Amino acid sequence: MNLEEIKQAAEILRNAKRIAVLTGAGISAESGVPTFRGKDGLWRQFRAEDLATPEAFSRDPKLVWEWYNWRRGLVGKVEPNPAHQTLAKWETVFPEFALITQNVDGLHARAGSKNILELHGNVWKLRCTKEDTVTENYASPLGDLPPLCPSCGEMLRPHVVWFGESLDPNILHRAFSLCSLCEVMLVIGTSAFVQPASSLPLYASDAGAKIIEINPDPTPLTSYANLSLQGKAGEILPLIDQFMSF
Ligand code: OAD
Repeated sequence: MNLEEIKQAAEILRNAKRIAVLTGAGISAESGVPTFRGKDGLWRQFRAEDLATPEAFSRDPKLVWEWYNWRRGLVGKVEPNPAHQTLAKWETVFPEFALITQNVDGLHARAGSKNILELHGNVWKLRCTKEDTVTENYASPLGDLPPLCPSCGEMLRPHVVWFGESLDPNILHRAFSLCSLCEVMLVIGTSAFVQPASSLPLYASDAGAKIIEINPDPTPLTSYANLSLQGKAGEILPLIDQFMSF
């Protein structure tokens, strides 16, 4: 890790009023949540087609729910790490601080962040397949699978975006709008492979924002970043915070 670059990041952030952050699975890795595409990543152990598509759910809702039940159990047992905590702190410090996440684990909220745009949904939310109503449910494990809607009796599904589905257009619109207005965009722990999330930093960059990436490995975004900090989010973010000396 290069301390000069950490100081530069602190300087860029200290001088900014409007900051947007995009996070991905890597920010939760140090909490013990597997990423998707890393060495032990979920998409190396499981086939997305079997577990994370509308077709998979129609074919075998119980199997899909068993997988989400397992993931809920996993993320329910871990704690937010210093990266989540630093972002939660910064929300209270910067005049405009927007957190956009691809993660469905709910760890940003548990760290205390309030203003969160969840692009891909949240495993702690369930949606009625008939009425589209969304409810929070923290039971872990869930009882009989698939769970049924208490109001109409139809199946509930995880309130997450599956492959082949569109993101909520309101959330996406707000995310692009935040990116068009921010002065600095932090991109943390994402492989930047999944659209449309991965185009948000490019959109921000085109609109004049400085891009700071934090990731142990290079990504397709690295060459566009003004500053690329190679390392773990849980180590780098608290260090930047120290150099900002709030
Ligand atoms: P990926 O698993 O594709 O990428 C995780 C990134 O985190 C990689 O670039 C790692 O190098 C990096 N990383 C690992 N440990 C880190 C650490 N300690 N600090 C910082 N970075 C670290 O996860 P995402 O980019 O989030 O979609 O994947 C995007 C989407 O693909 C997910 O939201 C999910 C998945 O299919 C849906 O479920 C719809």
